[in-house]
This record gives sequence, structure tokens and C-alpha cells, in this order.
Amino acid sequence: MDSLTLRRPDDWHLHLRDGAMLEAVTPESARHFGRAIIMPNLVPPVITGAEARAYRDRIMAAVPEGSGFTPLMTLYLTEDTDPADVVKAHAEGLVTAVKLYPAGATTNSASGVRDFDKVRPVLEAMAEAGIPLCVHGEVTEADIDIFDREATFIDRVLDPLRRATPGLKVVMEHITTKQGVDYALAGGDTLAATITTHHLVINRNAILVGGIKPHYYCLPVAKREEHRIALRTAATSGDATFFLGTDSAPHLDAAKEMACGCAGIFTATNTLSVLAEVFEQDGALDRLEAFASLNGPAFYGLLPNEEMVTLTKGAPVDYPARIETGDGPVTVFDPMMPLHWHVS
Ligand code: DOR
Ligand code: ZN
Repeated sequence: MDSLTLRRPDDWHLHLRDGAMLEAVTPESARHFGRAIIMPNLVPPVITGAEARAYRDRIMAAVPEGSGFTPLMTLYLTEDTDPADVVKAHAEGLVTAVKLYPAGATTNSASGVRDFDKVRPVLEAMAEAGIPLCVHGEVTEADIDIFDREATFIDRVLDPLRRATPGLKVVMEHITTKQGVDYALAGGDTLAATITTHHLVINRNAILVGGIKPHYYCLPVAKREEHRIALRTAATSGDATFFLGTDSAPHLDAAKEMACGCAGIFTATNTLSVLAEVFEQDGALDRLEAFASLNGPAFYGLLPNEEMVTLTKGAPVDYPARIETGDGPVTVFDPMMPLHWHVS
């Protein structure tokens, strides 16, 4: 097969940031994707419906003319979030989902949740209104090894939370472990999981072998090879539980290439070519559309995009090693393999 036509994909987990970064990275996602779930972890975070509206306006101003790219907004869940504001913002069509960051788990998560009992009224209102909760699934306890934080979160936080709020739709975001795959598969129709492009390609060796490689560092951190294989099997299975959320998370190179570098891998520019390569390697090109274009909207109760995109196999794709922003360069994910699938 050297040509593949599919519904225009969506990205169910994306960081666009603000200011000069927003200007530079929005066209990279708008080029290939129809819609994207926009992460609210700005400084300060997007907490209220009014803040989401203002942020959406700033994003729309950065979308290139003629692009049909639609940002799907999220609210950042805090212990003080007002259930009525969330329900109203969702009812107005302004907000698609709510994002749960355990406090301290990752970039700009300081305002996240410490005491899960405090957010119970919001979660109950969301279950009632059918608003999905997107979850960053890592515990933050200092005594839990960073490679075990996802699996521990499932047992200690996610499973009790779901049992306490039956009917709540939950997206386990950017799963990185076999335990994540297994838990998502067993969760029935109120549970789904996104998988990033980079976690299908790298294991933890990419970060640590032959020198420390900050551009492969993200959270949740890439795990052992057996986990990467489990993610590939899940993504390429076509199972409706799994769909694409790139977690494309740009940071300036200067903020990554330092003694305490930021977590995040920027994949917006070459994600679709990387995914086509991955699915081809696994003999699953015919299931790329399910993963990238169909399963996500089905879980969110939306229709797939009307438009189609065509991927064509040819000479290695020429993409930039980094993109420029008004504040400095951002390195593009290097999948350590040539890419042959061109998007049009
Ligand atoms: O690697 C990551 N980067 N993981 C996250 O959860 C946050 C993200 C970011 O905002 O940079
Ligand atoms: Zn993220």
C-alpha cells in the first residue's frame, strides 16, 4: 500500500501555550488536524468558563486563514472549581472536558487537586451532565518511583474515584504502561485512553543511553520496552478504547537543555508521518483511521470530521529539526527513523 485516505484526524490532547509560542505552534497542528482538545495548564491556568472563552479567542487568532481547525476547550480542575460554572460552560458549547492534574504531577500543575474529596461535587455534576474528565494519571508521593507512578495512580486514585462517581466519563491521558492499557480495556464504555505518538516510538533508553537527551523527556516518562510494545498493540488494534492524544508539549530549547529541563515533547509537526510509519511497521495501516480519526469523536459523542486527508508513501519526508518562535527555537520530535508518509 502506498496511499491511504482517511477522515481528517483529531488530536485529543494538545498544548498550544500562549503568546509567541501559541502563534508559532498553532499552525503546526492546524495543518493536519481538524480538532484538538486544548490543555488548560497555562500560567495562570484556565479555570473558569470566562477564561476558556478568552483563551479560545486567542487561539482562533493564531489559526491560519482558511484552516478549519477547531480548538475544543478544557477547564483546569481545582479544589475551588464551581460545579455550576463547569456545567454552564459545557452547556454553552464552550468547554468540551475538564482536566484533572494531581497537584505537583507535571508542568504548571501546582493549582491541581490534592484532596480528591474536595472535587467530588464537581465530578458528580460532570457525571450528571455527561462531561468527560481528562486525567493526568500519576501519583506525586516522593516515595513512589517515577516509573511506577502511573500504575500506582490507577490503584490508589483512579479506580476509587471511578467507583465513587459511577457514570463519569474518564479519559486516561497519555498512558505509558501495560497496566494502563489493561485498566482502560476493562473499564467499559465510560473509560477510554489516549496514547501519544512519541510513546509508540521511544522507550526509556531514548532518554538515558549515550548521554542524557532532554528532548525525549516528558511526563509520564517513557517506560521499559515491554510497555511500549503494549501501547503499540493497543493503538494498532483499532479497539475503540484507544485514540490519539499527541500531548505535543512545546518548550523553548533553552528551557529543555538545562540542568533542570522541562518535561514535554513537541510532535505536532511530524506526528501523522510518524504514526503512518508506526502503523505500517505493525501491518496495521488499515487501523490508523480508527486510532487517529474515529475512536476519539465516538467517545466524546461527536461526529468524525467530514474532510479526508491522504497519506502518500514516497521519498523521506523533509521536516524541520526545529521551528522558530518569537521567543526562540523549539525542537521537533526526532523519531530516529526516516519517515516516508507525506500528508496532503
Ligand atoms: O511532558 C509533559 N509536558 N507532560 C505533561 O503532563 C505536561 C506537559 C507540558 O505542559 O509541558
Ligand atoms: Zn499534556
